[in-house]
Amino acid sequence: MMGLEQPMKQFFMYLSKSKSMNKAAKRWGLKFGASQVVAGKNIESAIKVVKRLNEKGLVCTLDHLGEFVDSKEEALEATQYCIKTLDAIAESGVKCNLSVKMTQLGLDISDEFCLENMRRIVQTAKDYDNFVRIDMEDFFHCQLTLDILAILRQEFDNVGTVIQAYLFRADQDIENLKGVSLRLVKGAYKESPKVAFQEKQQVDDNYLNIIKKHLLSGSYTAIATHDHEMIAEVKKFAEANQILKTQFEFQMLYGFRTNLQLELVGGGYTIRVYVPFGQDWYGYFMRRLAERPQNVSFALRGLISKEKSY
Ligand code: FDA
Repeated sequence: MMGLEQPMKQFFMYLSKSKSMNKAAKRWGLKFGASQVVAGKNIESAIKVVKRLNEKGLVCTLDHLGEFVDSKEEALEATQYCIKTLDAIAESGVKCNLSVKMTQLGLDISDEFCLENMRRIVQTAKDYDNFVRIDMEDFFHCQLTLDILAILRQEFDNVGTVIQAYLFRADQDIENLKGVSLRLVKGAYKESPKVAFQEKQQVDDNYLNIIKKHLLSGSYTAIATHDHEMIAEVKKFAEANQILKTQFEFQMLYGFRTNLQLELVGGGYTIRVYVPFGQDWYGYFMRRLAERPQNVSFALRGLISKEKSY
């Protein structure tokens, strides 16, 4: 299996980038088991899924899937869709916030334009007493993202971002972002050895380091991982340091490790499920298969073996 893993990863990454497949997939329903990990193509289906998860004691964050945009028109459309999603969350009364990617909202067009779009989204969330999480993308966008966050934080307190443990700069960023609600992750992009740890052990060590640091500074911490060993360490650390369960939450992707999600809920922890939805489901789905080729068998069967489907 080890020998096959790398070519399979490359194969699914290749598929995820196929423009013609992406285009065709917009016309299809969710195929190949994608409905296990994507909550439908529109807001209505996503809200239904969130309601179901809320009933199980899980809270959520909705992510409207989209690809990089390079026109103002597309970025404004994506902004409007985020606002519509916040409206739908408020109208339905579900326990759910919003995650956004700023490259969808014009970050590659102009910082000022993207900031304006973000202001509208975060203001709408504020009006509804809700929260916006800015996903962290590749290293190229990291400083830009933090700069925009800093401006938004002068005006709003209902916005936070993500710090990636694989980046050398993560430790300093955590230092600078004391008091800000952060989601902490290992990091999902392929980054250069000039800026990021390449060894799994180094990433894991730094992940625990930044989690502990942010928790000890009293800041709200969202630990987003499917790694049961990390989760066990965090639980131990929180107990040993009298960190209340209200100061942190675990986050996992929709459809992944559902047994573990429900087990943690049973233990009194907050679990936020990251729920992607939208027409651009194909690229997201292929990237998940590339990340963990073991997921292929469940996708082909349309089932996650041994995992409850919520
Ligand atoms: P990792 O993949 O390192 O796995 C560690 C171990 O956990 C495995 O060896 C296995 O034992 C177990 N495991 C993992 N997945 C499993 C599964 N499906 N079933 C069974 N066992 C499993 N990245 C980013 O760069 N920017 C972002 O904004 C975000 N946002 C984000 C939100 C949420 C909610 C999550 C869960 C993740 C992200 N990420 C992200 C992705 C993140 O950076 C990272 O790439 C993935 O979560 C994979 O790393 P893990 O920590 O989950 O474990």
